[in-house]
This record gives sequence, C-alpha cells and structure tokens, in this order.
Amino acid sequence: MELFWYISLFITTVFAIDQHNQIILAPTTSLTEDVDVHTPIDIKPTDVYVSGDLLCNDEGCYPLLFEPSSDWKVIKPEQRLPAGLDIRVNLETGLKEAKLGDANPIDDATTTAVTNVHKQVDAPSENYEFSEQFAKLRDSLAKQDYSTVESQFDDLMDFAHDYKHGYKIIIKEFDFLQGVALNNSLPLNIRELDARMIIACIRNNPPVIEYIEQNYPNFVRDIFNNINEVQDVTPDVQLLVKRFINILTVLIESDPTYIVGVVDFETLRKVFYTIDDKQLKLRILEIIASFVDRVHHEELSKTMKRDGIMFVIPKIQDWTKEFSKFVRDSDIDEVHLRKFFNTLYDLKTDFGTDIKIDTSFINWLINQIEIRSKSLNNGIEQRDVEQDTFDRKLIDSRHKVFGNEMADSIKNFHDEL
Ligand SMILES: *[C@@H]1O[C@H](CO)[C@@H](O)[C@H](O)[C@H]1NC(C)=O
Repeated sequence: MELFWYISLFITTVFAIDQHNQIILAPTTSLTEDVDVHTPIDIKPTDVYVSGDLLCNDEGCYPLLFEPSSDWKVIKPEQRLPAGLDIRVNLETGLKEAKLGDANPIDDATTTAVTNVHKQVDAPSENYEFSEQFAKLRDSLAKQDYSTVESQFDDLMDFAHDYKHGYKIIIKEFDFLQGVALNNSLPLNIRELDARMIIACIRNNPPVIEYIEQNYPNFVRDIFNNINEVQDVTPDVQLLVKRFINILTVLIESDPTYIVGVVDFETLRKVFYTIDDKQLKLRILEIIASFVDRVHHEELSKTMKRDGIMFVIPKIQDWTKEFSKFVRDSDIDEVHLRKFFNTLYDLKTDFGTDIKIDTSFINWLINQIEIRSKSLNNGIEQRDVEQDTFDRKLIDSRHKVFGNEMADSIKNFHDEL
C-alpha cells in the first residue's frame, strides 16, 4: 500500500468527520496484495472507515459483517468474516471471495488458489490434538470454574510456544481465544492467561501472524477499542493491557498498516503515561518507531512525510523526547538503541528544525561518537559489518543530521561560560 493514499485518505477523513465521533479508520491493507497474477491495476486502496455496523468509503456503505451465502461472493475491503467460510482468491479478478463452507469439493474453473478453508471451530467432527482439552476448557469456563480454567490454560501453554502446535491452536481456536481475551465480563486473570496464550502462539511464528492478519483483520482494532474502554487502571488491568500491547507490537511490527489513526496513537500515549513499566514503554516506543520508519521509507517529499506523521501523531515532539530519553538509558540493549537512534535520525531528517532534539541527546551522541570511533578503529580483522555500518551512521549523523542542534548546544555552552 502506498503511503500517499494513506495520508490523503487520512486527511480527507479527518476533515470529513467530527473527531469526537466513534468513526475509526479501518486498516487499509490492499486485498490483492498477495496475488501477483492478473492484479487489477484499476483497483486502488479506498478510504474505508467503520461507522456503526457499516463500512463506508467514497462510494457508499456496506455491512461490516460479511453476509455469506452458498455462492461465492466478493469480500469487500475490511469486511469482517464470520467463522466457517471457504475463502478463495479469484484469479480472474484478483479479488477475495467467500461462501458458506460445505463438504463438497470446490470445483470451479476460475479458481486455482483456495487460500484458506477454515471451518466452524466447535463442530463436533473437528478433532485434532487439542480439541478435547479445549472442549474441557470451554466447559469449565461455562461453569465459571476458574481455577480449573487456569490449570487447563497452563497445561496448554507449552504447546502454544511450539511452532506447529501454536499454528494448530490458532487456526482451530482463535475465535475462542480472541473472544475470551476481549470479553469484559470474564475475570481479568483468565483473560490475561488467554492473551498470554495468544502471545505464545504468535511470537516468532510468521504463519500464525499471517493467518490472523488475513482472517481477523479487525483483531488489532478490537484490542485498541478494548484498551480504550478501560476505566479503572488496577494492577490486574495493567497486566492485561501489557499483554495486549505485546500482541499489538508483534502484529504491527509485521504489518504497520494495522495502525491507522490519531485515536490509536492517543491510546498508546495514555497507556505509556499511565502505566509505569519499562518493558511496556519500550514496546510502545517500538510501535511508534515502526510507524515512523515506514513513513520515512515511503517515496514522498520530506514535507509530505512530516505532515503525514503530524496528522496521525500530533504529539510527535513528546515521543521525540521519550526516544531521546530511552536511547540514553544505560540499561538499554543495542537492538533498542539502534532502533530508537534510527527513529530520531529519521525524524530529524524529515522534520528538520520543526522538531527539537534536547541537549542531553547531543551530549550522549558526542560521547557515543567517541566510544564507537574507537571500536571502529580497534584493528580487529573480523568485523561485524552491521555494527560498523551503524557506528559509521551514528558518527556521520553529527554533521549530516544533528548539525543544527550541535551548533545550538555549543552556542549555549559558550553562553554559559
Ligand atoms: C462473555 O462472557 C460471559 C460470561 O462467561 C458470557 O455469558 C458472554 O456470552 C460472553 N460474551 C461474549 C461476547 O462472548
């Protein structure tokens, strides 16, 4: 998806709606992305947003929930799919289609790719390794026997970490798992355990991530909404929100187009300043960094990038301060250090003087340049190319990117003498 569309649709939507409305931009991933034959060129990403039970764009509205029939029907952008459908990509049109699942083999000349067949999860005929365990889990949950539910979740947790079993659990049980995670009437510790199981399944498991992205495009949205509904930030709620942010980090890292609007970033900001947890703050900064990184690498003018970011994250200056603070944190690992440095680098490149970098960062940079120059010239033959590339980028950034701030801080220094 091109950012241009993203930004322009964002701008039009922002101006078209009252911001206090509950109208939310839906993720704008192109449905035809994974089809490289006959991809229709006249289909452009449309600005779809959610309004009550409807999805709307320039041309009108259609139901949020896909209404299946026994015939193949085109899935409109961002429609939510009920479980138990057969889904295919029609290779003539490049569009995704779905119909009610049935036992008959699919026999249709226009189709060569059946991307996914996912059936009703609780159908009695569906037996697989864990069907019995999950049936018992559902049963205990229905009886509100929560201590049994806990131990049943624990028993399954190890399998969730496994690549193959994790995938199996997600394709069979995701309706159930997401239902529990997002159900506000269930006890928080049960929801937290459930969310932890989802994390175990998605972490380091790209096929699971892809499955969720394709079949549950609204999951990220639902998590954001659920976080927004939080009234009372008790320690239990904090823990659940932490798990949710963890899920978001993994899904958004894989597909940054998930995160779509001012509301999302405002939610992240609230969580960031409400819950005092370093791990959580690092994760939120990673999400912001993914977004900035994505915008920065679009083929757009600097002004477009700057305006695009400002529209979605008006508080970018606050985040800049946080990136600067965390990059300087002596406990931070090199992976986060590089990520946050790169984000500041990108922001400064695109924003120029429209963004302020604090003096503490500049002092840190001067110090880092000294350390990293030494390690670059340490004469060791076996070089870590990635490390050297980063170190060189950091050293060069002093003049190339942060030059203005340098001059300012040196001037301040002289003023103080
Ligand atoms: C949430 O959980 C309650 C209590 O178990 C249940 O009665 C209700 O149907 C669930 N709601 C949803 C939307 O699944």
